[in-house]
Amino acid sequence: MKHHDVIIIGAGAAGLMCAATAGYRGRDVLVLDHAKQAGRKILISGGGRCNFTNQVVEPNNFICANPHFVKSAIARYKSTDFIELVERHGVEYHERDHGQLFCNDSAKDIVRTLMTECEWAGVKIQLRTDILSIAQDDQGQYIVSTSKGEYRCQSLVVATGGLSMPKLGATPYGYQLAEQFGLKVLPTTAGLVPFTWHHEQKQRFEPLSGIAVPSTITAKNGTSFSEALLFTHRGLSGPAILQISNYWRAGEAISINLLPTQSARELLANATQKHPKQSLRNTLNQWLPKRLVEILFEETMLNKALNQLIHAEIDQLVTDIHQWQVVMNGTEGYRTAEVTLGGIDTDELSSKTMEAKQQKGLYFVGEVMDVSGWLGGFNFQWAWSSGYAAGEVV
Ligand code: FDA
Repeated sequence: MKHHDVIIIGAGAAGLMCAATAGYRGRDVLVLDHAKQAGRKILISGGGRCNFTNQVVEPNNFICANPHFVKSAIARYKSTDFIELVERHGVEYHERDHGQLFCNDSAKDIVRTLMTECEWAGVKIQLRTDILSIAQDDQGQYIVSTSKGEYRCQSLVVATGGLSMPKLGATPYGYQLAEQFGLKVLPTTAGLVPFTWHHEQKQRFEPLSGIAVPSTITAKNGTSFSEALLFTHRGLSGPAILQISNYWRAGEAISINLLPTQSARELLANATQKHPKQSLRNTLNQWLPKRLVEILFEETMLNKALNQLIHAEIDQLVTDIHQWQVVMNGTEGYRTAEVTLGGIDTDELSSKTMEAKQQKGLYFVGEVMDVSGWLGGFNFQWAWSSGYAAGEVV
């Protein structure tokens, strides 16, 4: 049986970062992955350009049952550290809205950076390897049985990621392993995910498919995001929806402001003063897409002249524009979700090292734990920061 100081299961973002960090410390590191390629999620991320971090990373960019958990790791390995790393590897990048950093060329640059770091740090990466079982011997060493043989290690790092995109190799193995060693796993659901319509809503709103509008969307708990809203064949998507999906619970309404930077009441009052005979339809068409106006508001109302509208109708219009209440059927689930909410309970882990408090030598890094980031490079930053934290001590 071959012995390694550290075995990491999962050659994704967090696993590779952890491996390189530990390797540079002189640790003998083996990374095992069942996939045929390392970093597959990185390759498809950010539309193939990988939104690898964000200029400003703060604890409130993450969702975790313990909101303090992320603080230590993101303070010790910052977005500037990762930016410095990609610059050192000659990766060209650009900034988009809200401080999001993307590769100019391809997400392959990020995988190349991590693989080069691993190579320089002497890390061995073994792909196409199925993990059959993991046990602990009398000395507390971990014995990892795989389709390619048995390995023994002192530190075992679980970097198996979340459940989103099963066709890319996502599995619940990390959760099962945590439970095997007595760690609590919080229920998981799809996050950063589009919403789907109920049947009747689909019939009404499907013609809007393809329309994008600026919006502010608010979840029941008061969290809100101001970004684009996109109507799709199946439901609602776009950055605002993906962000709010992290805060949405089944059955809850979301509140959509379709005119986030202006007051519909003031606009209507001004328009009525200037063009009292203008139809409501022609007026609304100046502020909202025509197809949306036709479907959201009743024909008889749209045909009215502005000076025919009574107070109650204006109140209703203002509410419908600024606080459109929508109860969605559900989400598209793990098939299209960018992340998994929930996972290994962070109360079980040290926020400094990511080691299980009750299980010496067992570490969890990245998305497998109950930490999910906003859209905008925060999930990769968590992978880098948590991977680094464990890599420094394993
Ligand atoms: P990750 O999923 O990267 O790696 C897990 C590894 O474990 C995989 O290589 C897998 O094969 C392996 N594995 C799983 N089960 C195993 C088993 N049983 N045996 C052996 N190996 C196993 N985030 C962001 O910040 N910016 C972005 O632009 C995007 N874009 C994006 C697009 C899409 C389409 C998705 C699905 C996700 C994103 N994300 C993102 C999220 C980001 O990809 C994600 O949070 C990180 O990849 C998580 O890194 P991990 O290393 O934890 O898991």
